[in-house]
Amino acid sequence: MTKSTERFQFFDQHPQIADFREDIMQGLSAPQPYISPKYFYDETGSRLFEDICSTDEYYPTRTEVNIIRDNIDDVVENLGRECLLIEPGSGDSYKVRLLLDALRPIAYLPIDISRRYLQDEARKLAEEFTWLNVHAVCADFTGKLKLPYHVESTNKVAFFPGSTIGNFLPEQAVAVLEEIKNMVGENGGLLIGVDLQKSTQILNAAYNDKQGYTAQFNLNLLSRINRELGADFNLANFRHHAFFNEERSRIEMHLLSLQDQQVTIDGQVFNFKKDQSIHTEYSHKYTIEHFQSLAEKAGFSRVKTWVDNEGLFSVHYLTC
Ligand code: AVJ
Repeated sequence: MTKSTERFQFFDQHPQIADFREDIMQGLSAPQPYISPKYFYDETGSRLFEDICSTDEYYPTRTEVNIIRDNIDDVVENLGRECLLIEPGSGDSYKVRLLLDALRPIAYLPIDISRRYLQDEARKLAEEFTWLNVHAVCADFTGKLKLPYHVESTNKVAFFPGSTIGNFLPEQAVAVLEEIKNMVGENGGLLIGVDLQKSTQILNAAYNDKQGYTAQFNLNLLSRINRELGADFNLANFRHHAFFNEERSRIEMHLLSLQDQQVTIDGQVFNFKKDQSIHTEYSHKYTIEHFQSLAEKAGFSRVKTWVDNEGLFSVHYLTC
C-alpha cells in the first residue's frame, strides 16, 4: 500500500439511477420541459467542460485563476492556516491546486456528483501532494450537504469557485449559501467565485464558442439519457441555443427541437413541437452589490472581494 492510499479516503453517497430517471421524467413532463444542469457532469460532460474552459471565449475560468494567483498571499492570510478545506462540486482539481501549497490545509474534502471523475482527480491530488489528506465524498451537493464525519473545533472553509452559484435562481442561491454556512459552522468561511455582469456580446460569445464545445456539452445531456435510461433522442433533431437574458441578467441554455418529434424514455412517450425548447441551464451574472446582498441574506458577512482589472469576475471571502 502506498502512502497516498492511506491518506486517501472515499465516501460514496452517490445518488441512485432511479433518482436520475425520476428527475428526467418529471422535468421533461413540465409545461416548460427542463433538465437540471447538475446532470451535465457525467464523465463525458466533465471532460467537455474542461474543453470549454480552454476556449478563448470562455473567460470565467482563466480570469478566476488569475485573480486567485495574483492575490494568493492575501487569500491565504484571510482563510487562515490549518483549515479543513471543503469543495462542493469540485470537478477537475485544477483550481484547488492554486491554494494547496500556500494554504496547507489539514485535509481537503472534495464533493462531486461524478464518481469516477472524483475518484481519479482526488487520487491524483493525494499522490501529487504527498503531505495532504484527501477525503473525497461522492454526493449531490444540492441535496442536504452532510460531511462524512464530524469534525470539531476546526477552522472549516468552503471553496466554491467557477460561479457555480450562478446556476441557481437568486432565491435558491441564498438557500445554497445557507447550506454551505451550516456545513462550515460557526466561524467558518467561504471563498466563492462569482461571474459579473458585462456586455451581452462577451457573454453570448462565452456560451457559443466557435469550436462547438458548449453545444456538445449541452447535447451530451441527451446522449446521457439515451445511454443511461435507454431513451431514443435523435441528437441531429436538437440544437444548442444559448443567449443572455438582459432583464434577468442571466445566460439561458436550451436545446431546441428542430421539428415536431416523439421521444420514448422507459416506455413513456414525450412530444416536442418544432421550436419548443428543453431548458438546461441558467448562469446568473451579478453585480458585486447584488451578490453581497444574497450572501448577507444567507447570514454571511463580507471580509474581502478581489476583482480582475477588467471587472469580468469576482472572488469573495465571507465568514459566518
Ligand atoms: C460551471 C456552471 C459555472 O455557468 O458558466 C459553461 C457551466 N455552461 N458553459 C457556467 C457552463 C456552459 C458554468 N458553470
